Amino acid sequence: MSRDIFDIINHRASCRNFLEKEIPEEIMNQLLDAACKSPSSGGFQTYSIIKVTQKEKKEQLVKLCRNQKFIEKAPVNLVFCIDFRRIKRINEVEPAPFIETDTFANFWIGLMDAAISAQTLCLAAEALQLKTVYVGNLINRIDQAAALLNIPEYVCPVIMVTLGYPVSALKPPLRYDRNILVHEETYQDMDIEALMKAYKNKDGQQKIKASEKLVEKIYRTALTYHGEAYAEKCKKYILDKGYISMYQYWFGCYYIDEEGFLDMKGYQAFMKKQGFRWLE
Ligand SMILES: Cc1cc2nc3c(=O)[nH]c(=O)nc-3n(C[C@H](O)[C@H](O)[C@H](O)COP(=O)(O)O)c2cc1C
Repeated sequence: MSRDIFDIINHRASCRNFLEKEIPEEIMNQLLDAACKSPSSGGFQTYSIIKVTQKEKKEQLVKLCRNQKFIEKAPVNLVFCIDFRRIKRINEVEPAPFIETDTFANFWIGLMDAAISAQTLCLAAEALQLKTVYVGNLINRIDQAAALLNIPEYVCPVIMVTLGYPVSALKPPLRYDRNILVHEETYQDMDIEALMKAYKNKDGQQKIKASEKLVEKIYRTALTYHGEAYAEKCKKYILDKGYISMYQYWFGCYYIDEEGFLDMKGYQAFMKKQGFRWLE
């Protein structure tokens, strides 16, 4: 039964609990065909999709991606990559003055090609009762991910999509609506009180207990990135309120570098190795 596009969009929600159920080949191919029909800059389709289903590889991906176990449980993980290699190889036969691997603007374009293809697939998956979740953590250890997947020069992983059948129905989370996200003609800052109200409506329901351990962790993170005065300010705000907000938790406790995450120098070396010169 086909579904209206708005029904598909409105029901989409990230899934992190998958059945250990295979995706039939014809359905998988239908999804991949949809991904390959997405718009791309110049029509060059500068992306590739690596389909990972092997258990051992999925286990490795879990380790590389903050131990997110759903990666292993889901039947399929798709790694979307920027791919200038096809053009490079064609150029070896048919010379053309191609410099796209050397400029930031073109890296960005390749990234957009890959991301748009990924989202096309996610919506197609939703239409076929499958669920997806992006895994951005793939890029934290991008060098190891590239080695695992045998990713050659002029190709760069961008994002992973984990997909499968959900264990149970999902309720889409609260999101900012067009009153917050859409600007008329030019960018206009919202009034800060209205912004705080919108933020509280969306994310303010979730409050975490201000345990000594978590408060200390947030303090340490703030100290590392912003210095003592800001760390004190964070701590005082939390103690005055009596709880930790989701933003404070995510930015102070979760989205912080783990051992093995690449730093700027690591990304630079990785880009160079892959033949992308824009970060030099
Ligand atoms: C670029 C990107 C990276 C993401 N990385 C992760 C991730 O590593 N793990 C995860 O569980 N969800 C990840 N997500 C999913 C988001 O957490 C999710 O889209 C967001 O919370 C909104 O929920 P919704 O998708 O249900 O609307 C990612 C989403 C995007 C777009």
